[in-house]
Amino acid sequence: MLYSEKVMDHFSNPRNLGKMDDADGVGEVGNAKCGDIMKIYLKIEDGIIVDVKFNTFGCASAIATSSMATELIKGQPIEKALELSNKAVVEALDGLPPAKIHCSVLAEQAVKAALKDYYTKNGMELDPAIFGSEDCGHCHSCDGGCDGCEG
Ligand code: FES
Repeated sequence: MLYSEKVMDHFSNPRNLGKMDDADGVGEVGNAKCGDIMKIYLKIEDGIIVDVKFNTFGCASAIATSSMATELIKGQPIEKALELSNKAVVEALDGLPPAKIHCSVLAEQAVKAALKDYYTKNGMELDPAIFGSEDCGHCHSCDGGCDGCEG
C-alpha cells in the first residue's frame, strides 16, 4: 500500500476544507513544478488560532497534508503553529512515500505564509529567523528529492 490509512482518510474526508471570509491571515503558496496550489485561512483571537480553513488544488498528498496541518494548528497558540514542520505533518499521517514529501513542504509553507500575512496586517515584527528575510525561490523549485526544505 503506497499510502497510509491516515493519508487515505484525510484525502477522502478532508478536515477544515473551505474558505473563510473574515480571516485574520491568508497564505497562498504554490509548487511551480507540479502546479499545485494551497491556500490557508486563519482566524486568530488573543494569540490563539481559533479556526482554520484550507483550499488545495493539488494531489492526494497535498490535500491530506493540508488537512492534517489544519488539525495540528487548530486551537494552538501562534508560536506553536510557527514551529509546525513538514516532518511533523508527515509523521502525524504515518508517513508519505519519498516522492511525495515535497507536497508536505507546501503545507508548512502555507501555514507560515498565513501567519506572515497576520503579522504584517497587525504591524507585528517579522523575525527573519522564522520567516526568512527574503523569498529565495528555493522552495518553489524543489524537485521533491530532498527530505524536506531546510530553507
Ligand atoms: Fe504537487 Fe503533491 S504533487 S503538491
